Amino acid sequence: MRILGIETSCDETAAAVYDGNANRVLSHVLSSQIALHSVYGGVVPELASRAHVQQILPLIHEALARAQISLAQLDVVAVTSKPGLPGSLLIGVATAKTLAWAVKKPLLGINHLEGHIFSACLENTIPFPFLCLTASGGHTSLYVVHNFGEYTLLANTLDDAAGEAFDKVAKLLKLPYPGGPIIEKLARSVAFQDFFAYPRGKAHALDFSFSGLKTAVLYDLVRRGYYNLATRQLHDTVDETVKAQVASSLLGCVKDIFIQKLAAAVRQGISCKAVVFVGGVACNAFIKEELKSWCHERGLSFFYPSPSYCTDNAAMIAFVGHYRALRKQYDDYTLDIL
Ligand code: KG4
Ligand code: ZN
Repeated sequence: MRILGIETSCDETAAAVYDGNANRVLSHVLSSQIALHSVYGGVVPELASRAHVQQILPLIHEALARAQISLAQLDVVAVTSKPGLPGSLLIGVATAKTLAWAVKKPLLGINHLEGHIFSACLENTIPFPFLCLTASGGHTSLYVVHNFGEYTLLANTLDDAAGEAFDKVAKLLKLPYPGGPIIEKLARSVAFQDFFAYPRGKAHALDFSFSGLKTAVLYDLVRRGYYNLATRQLHDTVDETVKAQVASSLLGCVKDIFIQKLAAAVRQGISCKAVVFVGGVACNAFIKEELKSWCHERGLSFFYPSPSYCTDNAAMIAFVGHYRALRKQYDDYTLDIL
C-alpha cells in the first residue's frame, strides 16, 4: 500500500510517499519558508498560504518522481487537515481532495499532532505504552500513547509553546528566527552552564507554561542593565558572551521543565515503557542527551525522530495515513479544516 502524504499546516510545504507494506519512506520532500518569514521574526499567515499555492504541485510531482511511481499507482491520499493556519491547511486539503477525486483513491484527513506523536515510529519500533513529549513552535504537550492512533492528552501548554520561548527570547536578543538552533549553538559555546537561574515553574503541575519564562528573561535583562524597557531595545553594548549566557540558562531551564513534567507523570503512576521526544524542539541535541540519561536511569527506553522528521514533514502524515487506511477509516469530500 502506497500513501501520498501532504503537509501544509504552517510554514513548510511538504509531500512524501510511504510504502506501508515495506514500512519505508520512498520519498520525502519539502520547501521551507523560513527565509520568507524570518525578516518579520515569525510566520505571516497570508505569505505562508501564497507560498503553499506556489509550491504544492511541484513538490507532489517531485515526491512521486523520487518514489518512482505515478499518481495512478497510489493507494491513498493523506493530508494534514487540522490544527494549523486556516489558509495554509485549506491549500493542502483542497489539493488532496482534487487528487483523490481525479485518481479515484480514498482520502484521509490527518491530525498534525498525531503525525508528530508517531513521527519517531518511522524509524523505530517503539514499545507501547509510551509517554510522548511534543514540543514545537506552536505546541507543547505530553501524551500517553497506548497504540497506533490511540493516545490520551496528559498535559498541554497553558500559554506559549517551548519553541515559542526560544523564538521570543531570540528576538529579545536580536538573534535570527527561528531561535532554537542559534540558542543551542550559543549555549554550547558556554558549555550549557546555568548563569541566571530562571524560574522552573511549579514542579508538581503537569501542564506547561512558558510565557512567564519569557517575561522572567526580559525582566532579568532589564535588571542587569542589558535591556531598555522604554525603547524595547537590547543595549548595543550587549555582546555575544552575554547572549550565550542567556541562551544557555534558558536552554537548561526548558530542559529542567521537560524533566519535571515527565517525572510528575511517572509519579502519578502513568505506566510507560518508553519516552518519545518529538517536534521541532527535539532537534536539540543537548535536551535529547539529558532526557536520554534521565530515562536510562529509570529503566525507560528513549526515542526521537531524525531532525528532518522532528520539524514539520509529510512522511509522518503518510505514516498515520497508513494505519488509518488499514482500518479503512477514510474521509469523504466533506473533509474540513475545523
Ligand atoms: O515543529 P516545527 O518545525 O514547527 C512547528 O510546528 O512549530 O518547530 C519549530 C520550532 C521553532 O520554535 C524552533 O525554534 C524550534 O522548533 N527548534 C529548536 C531547535 N530547532 C528548531 N528548538 C530548540 N533547539 C533546536 N535545535
Ligand atoms: Zn508541527
